[in-house]
Amino acid sequence: MLNKKTIEDIEVKGKRVLVRCDFNVPLDVETKTQITDDRRIREALPTIQYLMEHGARVILCSHIGKTKNKQTLAPVAKRLSELLGREVPFASDVIGEDAHAKADALQDGDVMLLENVRLHPEEEENDPTFAKELASLAEVYVNDAFGTAHRAHASTAGVADYLPAVCGYLIQKEIGIMGEALNEPKRPFLAILGGAKVSTKIGVIENLLDKVDGLMIGGGMTYTFAKAQGGNVGNSICELDKLDLANAILEKAKEKNVKLYFPVDTLCAASPAEDAEVSVHPSNDIPDGLEGLDIGPESIQLFTEAIKEYKTIIWNGPVGFFELDKFANGTNAIAKALAENEDAITIIGGGDSAAAVEKGGFADKMTHISTGGGASLEFLEGKTLPGIACLMNK
Ligand code: 3PG
Repeated sequence: MLNKKTIEDIEVKGKRVLVRCDFNVPLDVETKTQITDDRRIREALPTIQYLMEHGARVILCSHIGKTKNKQTLAPVAKRLSELLGREVPFASDVIGEDAHAKADALQDGDVMLLENVRLHPEEEENDPTFAKELASLAEVYVNDAFGTAHRAHASTAGVADYLPAVCGYLIQKEIGIMGEALNEPKRPFLAILGGAKVSTKIGVIENLLDKVDGLMIGGGMTYTFAKAQGGNVGNSICELDKLDLANAILEKAKEKNVKLYFPVDTLCAASPAEDAEVSVHPSNDIPDGLEGLDIGPESIQLFTEAIKEYKTIIWNGPVGFFELDKFANGTNAIAKALAENEDAITIIGGGDSAAAVEKGGFADKMTHISTGGGASLEFLEGKTLPGIACLMNK
């Protein structure tokens, strides 16, 4: 249970309310003007609509892209206007004249969007002067940017020093569903972890080993475990300085009675290319000159059969080089197996696994697809998220 005040615990009528959303959405590579996945915008709508319906003067803000790229949020203003069925005025700055003029012109129930907060390098520095300036636009602060809640930036945390601060519905939903799965799962409980490196997943693995009944490992991480166990991994990605760590994880899993699933066979190629010649090899005996790029057919069978046995499943990270269709079979098969396990609570955390589920057309079959990549990972690690810690307690 999230012990933080929410938009329903504070008077918003007639007040200027600054709402931090995560509108960091992907744009098309060529023109950088077309949004290719608007999930994060759609997921922000319940909070925005509640505030508008309750007479708030809503000032939305977000980042998009990295500070150095100086991207504009203009495509988001356009998409928001379409989704809300009304023009959303877009300020050409964040704390400048246009932002103040447009905020002053708001009537009860109106909504506007500020330009990308990362146009100011002070945002990521959590600079108090910048946070105070941003806060001066409003009388109440709402954080609903779950995807950025792991960042202690000015608009996600600093601003809460100057305004009464509560959370929105998206943060409530994300923490509610993932928190319940972690703390009171329907058993048996399985975590599927993929991705390239053990080093980036170690925190999650350690935290989850105390909670799950089964742990399925795929992706590049597999080869560090195979090598640690004395296998040959050819040219596969492998963290040689993490072999002891991999063995310690295996030991801990045994102590905790957690059932482990590793791929038994691997789809290999000389390099990740759509026209590469592929061959299947045992996961612990990959020839020199080849690298493992996806789980093999036997592993797909093993994993998809096992998935049927679980009642709560959390998945973070693809099990192969899924950006190329040739190496996406394993990841797609996992997505399909989760979709077919209709009795289970299925939670997709992480940008890449969410993208795989969307691409395969399985999104509406999942219990929850998190809007946070890094944020959901840190939540699963059991870390405190600064964007939530800064909000008022109930
Ligand atoms: C994300 O996409 O994970 C969030 O929007 C945070 O973005 P960042 O990694 O650039 O801080």
